[in-house]
Amino acid sequence: MNPTILVTGGAGYIGAHACVTLIAAGFTPLVLDNLCNSSAESLRRVGRITGVEPRLIVADIRDAQALDALFAAQPVAAVMHFAGLKAVGESTRDPLRYHDNNVAGSIGLLQAMQRAAVRTLIFSSSATVYGEPGFEQFREDMRCDPVNPYGRGKWMIEQMLGDLAASEAGWRIAALRYFNPVGAHASGLIGEDPRGAPDNLMPAITQVAVGRLPKLRVFGGDWPTPDGSGVRDYIHVMDLAEGHVAALRHLLAHDPTLLTLNLGSGHGISVLQMLRAFEQVLGRALPCEIVARRPGDIAAYWADPTLAANVLGWRTQRDLHAMCRDAWRWQQANPRGYASA
Ligand code: NAD
Ligand code: UD1
Repeated sequence: MNPTILVTGGAGYIGAHACVTLIAAGFTPLVLDNLCNSSAESLRRVGRITGVEPRLIVADIRDAQALDALFAAQPVAAVMHFAGLKAVGESTRDPLRYHDNNVAGSIGLLQAMQRAAVRTLIFSSSATVYGEPGFEQFREDMRCDPVNPYGRGKWMIEQMLGDLAASEAGWRIAALRYFNPVGAHASGLIGEDPRGAPDNLMPAITQVAVGRLPKLRVFGGDWPTPDGSGVRDYIHVMDLAEGHVAALRHLLAHDPTLLTLNLGSGHGISVLQMLRAFEQVLGRALPCEIVARRPGDIAAYWADPTLAANVLGWRTQRDLHAMCRDAWRWQQANPRGYASA
């Protein structure tokens, strides 16, 4: 029997890719998602890629009864907890909604895991927890000082996981701090499908390429970076998904522990470098304009991925070209995302 892994938020962008890698690695994903930012079509597509469509339970992580019923119905070896709201600007406008969904939701999930004696967890954290400590390369032992409610919620959850692991024996926890996930499964069947206007760089580029947006707005050309545009650490979503399977295998094979790991490539890429790499894949130039800096942005940061390499034996495999190629394949085949189906 393949061990069952509960994947909260598994119908979403990263969760669906994690389902593909879990199935490939011999696990059975069981998805719990309230579909507030996703559609069940992503899991049908996972079925087309792998031959196994993950079972979906449409429920909220704050629904204690649904969680208890799920844990009672089958043995669950571990939980990958992706469910959450992720728009930084929205979190500033409606912090209570974010803290209710992300922080209270995580508490409810942890309580249900405690009742069911399931103590192995992989948590989706974010590089956002670091805030602006005045360094460019972030290492896990650096001070965290997140600057918005979304990031503060992730940091609260990380601290709570530390308290939990210290209070009760047996917890195996990995808090994974993602840098900037981009790209899609190489099949082009699953990918990032933002609702409304995209906030993030890669979906903005692919939507310009497909004609949904008139031009790319580059937020600031006067940053203290080599070409004046912002620098980030982009990570292919399949590398990220494989990092989760590496973390899961590590947790299942070792004594109880609490790990906090960066998942990034270790390389900074500028907005203009990303745009040029995408244009090479596309074979034509895209309309773009350098506009004012976006409030809240910082110039440059990227991961120190050494700890994940040492502990998990994991490092990114896919380069900038693969990120652009796969993002474009997905967007081209699905110009309106899953609604194109
Ligand atoms: P996503 O919105 O595509 O996926 C999140 C999924 O969780 C969605 O399917 C949504 O319907 C579900 N969900 C949200 N609240 C829920 C609730 N209360 N109950 C049940 N389901 C719920 O986002 P994603 O990009 O796949 O991100 C997954 C996780 O990774 C999130 O926790 C996010 O904060 C974190 N993260 C994402 C990024 C990124 O750039 N995408 C970066 C760092 C961290
Ligand atoms: C954002 C979130 C962060 C989240 C991350 C990955 C904020 C403040 N932070 O980070 O919490 O973990 O996404 O999902 O929102 N850019 C443009 N034009 C665009 C869009 C972006 O020039 O249309 C630039 C930005 O200024 C930045 C870079 O592209 O320099 C990356 O931006 P984005 O994809 O939004 O990610 P982050 O801001 O790094």
